[in-house]
Amino acid sequence: MRASRRDVLLGAAAASVSAVPASAADADGEGLRAIAARRGVAFGIAARADALEKDAAFAAAAAREAAMLVPEGAGKWWALHPAEDVYDFAGLDTIAAFAARHGQAVRGHTLLWHAAMEDWTVAALAEGAARGRSVLEAHFDRVLGHTAAAIRDWDVANEAVADPWNSAELLKDSPWLRSLGPDYLDLAFRLARQKDPALKLTYNDYGCEHDTDFDDEKRRRVLALVRGMRDRGVPIDAVGLQGHMHRDNKFSARKVAEFVRSVRALGLEVLVTELDVIEPETQSDPAARDARSAALVHAFISTVLEAGGSAVLCWGLSDRYSWATDDPPPLLPAENASGPPPGPARPLPLDAELRRKPMWHALARAFEGRPWP
Ligand code: XIL
Repeated sequence: MRASRRDVLLGAAAASVSAVPASAADADGEGLRAIAARRGVAFGIAARADALEKDAAFAAAAAREAAMLVPEGAGKWWALHPAEDVYDFAGLDTIAAFAARHGQAVRGHTLLWHAAMEDWTVAALAEGAARGRSVLEAHFDRVLGHTAAAIRDWDVANEAVADPWNSAELLKDSPWLRSLGPDYLDLAFRLARQKDPALKLTYNDYGCEHDTDFDDEKRRRVLALVRGMRDRGVPIDAVGLQGHMHRDNKFSARKVAEFVRSVRALGLEVLVTELDVIEPETQSDPAARDARSAALVHAFISTVLEAGGSAVLCWGLSDRYSWATDDPPPLLPAENASGPPPGPARPLPLDAELRRKPMWHALARAFEGRPWP
């Protein structure tokens, strides 16, 4: 299959340590929110309540760059619902208040996920379908009620499709599947619609971004899932592509465009919900690493937007706060310990000192519909 022009450029741009071309808007210091808005696209970031509260420089950057916030952790079960009779909205309320002060929307992440649950929830689900449904309903009732004014778009379910490398099934084995059966996603989306008819209901997943056998099959499965939901009349409004890009994995603009258009043809919106770049190694020159990451981000985001994507959120804003930099870089295997030491990851548009990286400019160019570099 002939590589598309963008795929070829991706390789060339990544190979060159490109001088960072300023985007037209960069000169004004405008943030990505303004640049994206001119394209009719909402740009946002995953936010941590403590960073917004305690790091004034970061908070200013978040206000300048993002038109939308999504709680990185504050909207998950173990944060919101630490015990069956205990709810904790402190983190979510802090993020919602910050967003209100800065004219930002908030999207919710995530009502139902097999991870991020306290033991009490897993134990309750194991008691059977009646108990599982009552736990689900109580959570949806309380959370959707509390957040109705601030959050109008939720990831109703996250990462429910099985990974092709370890399952031939459509759905991932999980406490939810075991408790409620294969219709649990239909139930969750119907409950959400019933609790709040005007809410945008999103299905969110990873592994649909690259030109690999895994991603080919994952795209097929996600499409089958949402097509089946539509065929059964299950309320769903959008699909979220997480967008955790793998810096050195192959990318096919044709395959991603075809997938986005197929989802759009079902009448669903397509969002990029957790964009960042995961690096297989962090020993090489940061400038060269940044160039590869920027070229990949530009190719992916340009492709999604041209195929009809409507929003782009990064999984953070600065390398200062990222799940990829929370832990120290992995130790080098003994065989290449003589190489340069692994440096910190560089997954996001701003570096740890809040300076714009090539990825920031690549996003600006993608929003402007301009080529890269
Ligand atoms: C991650 C957070 O960023 C981490 O801080 C946390 O320790 C684990 O979860 N896909 C998702 C997100 O949908 O909720 C995950 O967030 C990253 C992968």
